[in-house]
Amino acid sequence: MTILVTGGAGFIGANFVLDWLAHGSETVINLDKLTYAGNLQNLASLEGDGRHVFVHGDIGDAALVARLLAEHKVRAVLNFAAESHVDRSIEGPGAFIQTNIVGTFNLLEAVRGYWSALPDAERAAFRFLHVSTDEVYGSLDADAPAFTESHRYEPNSPYSASKAASDHLVRAYHHTYGLPVLTTNCSNNYGPYHFPEKLIPLVIHNALAGKPLPIYGDGQQIRDWLFVTDHCSAIRRVLEAGRLGETYNVGGWNEKANIEVVRTLCAILDELAPRADGQPYARQMTFVKDRPGHDRRYAIDARKLERELDWRPRETFETGIRKTVQWYLNHQDWVRNITSGAYREWVERQYAA
Ligand code: NAD
Ligand code: DAU
Repeated sequence: MTILVTGGAGFIGANFVLDWLAHGSETVINLDKLTYAGNLQNLASLEGDGRHVFVHGDIGDAALVARLLAEHKVRAVLNFAAESHVDRSIEGPGAFIQTNIVGTFNLLEAVRGYWSALPDAERAAFRFLHVSTDEVYGSLDADAPAFTESHRYEPNSPYSASKAASDHLVRAYHHTYGLPVLTTNCSNNYGPYHFPEKLIPLVIHNALAGKPLPIYGDGQQIRDWLFVTDHCSAIRRVLEAGRLGETYNVGGWNEKANIEVVRTLCAILDELAPRADGQPYARQMTFVKDRPGHDRRYAIDARKLERELDWRPRETFETGIRKTVQWYLNHQDWVRNITSGAYREWVERQYAA
């Protein structure tokens, strides 16, 4: 038995591949384009492990995908591959349309061709799991209930609009062709291998480098944080037992204002890696220009996943964030290797003002 993971060299995909192989022996074909966000170092511990086959390529290359599916007799596809950073989607939406919409479409077409020619039993057992986001639901008022699976789609950024479009394509392939799909809509992840363009790893990296900790606008925007291995366990569970054609919200019941997240990171760093001058890291906090169209609040109601599939997160925010800071302190080489030329150029453009 073999699964095909797309985007498995990125943050969540790599965590998923490592987690999958720690829980079983089923081979993973890992198809990744290795954009700036893809990093084979995330998978270094799998070197020489025959259960992991890395393929450098694009989900939009339907011929390549068709060949991989047939050659490896794949029984499930898990689609993590995407352009994922909201700020980059504001600067340049084109890549988001190309990968998240056109790429997902080409992937679905290749999968449909393969799946429809499978013998009956294999066709019935096949799964296409699409990894999506809570951002497709738009922004919540302060006192509104958390997003359920029936919340209407109201994406506000080019990133979330492109993910919403891909969710709709996946849904349509189920309704029109009967493709056995599952979709997960998850809240903000954090943990090891998180690329330091995103808030939590950026703040840890900048704090240690003595740089400003940029807080957009008033810092009161709320995100619902989930430790990445909890996301991985939710995906494994949905793949195993999710009802076909259903969507499942995944979240950690951890709503935090951005400023609170940054203060927490500063406090943990004060304890684990105090500044040489004895001053608190919170001194580096700096309010900067807000993100255009910045969504105010996300919150996930994950009760369907708990009720139907008995899934619950294992980490609290307090345990997960401490593990995360410790991981970054222990993996400064990993950070140094990726915060090179192209990364620095992005940071200079994004925070110039
Ligand atoms: P990431 O940016 O860290 O990684 C994306 C990976 O996809 C990279 O390895 C990249 O090289 C690869 N990729 C990009 N375009 C590709 C293409 N055309 N073909 C093949 N590979 C390609 O992203 P992430 O944070 O790991 O997110 C993974 C998925 O989870 C995305 O679909 C994202 O929308 C979703 N998601 C992310 C979060 C989060 O908090 N990070 C939360 C919910 C959902
Ligand atoms: O909600 C799920 C989404 O979470 C995923 O779909 C996305 O792929 C993922 O990138 C993430 O999106 P966010 O925009 O919420 O994550 P980011 O880490 O970029 O920002 C988190 C919050 O922190 C957001 O309100 C913007 C703010 N922020 C971010 C950066 C990079 C700052 O205040 N300063 C910063 O420098």
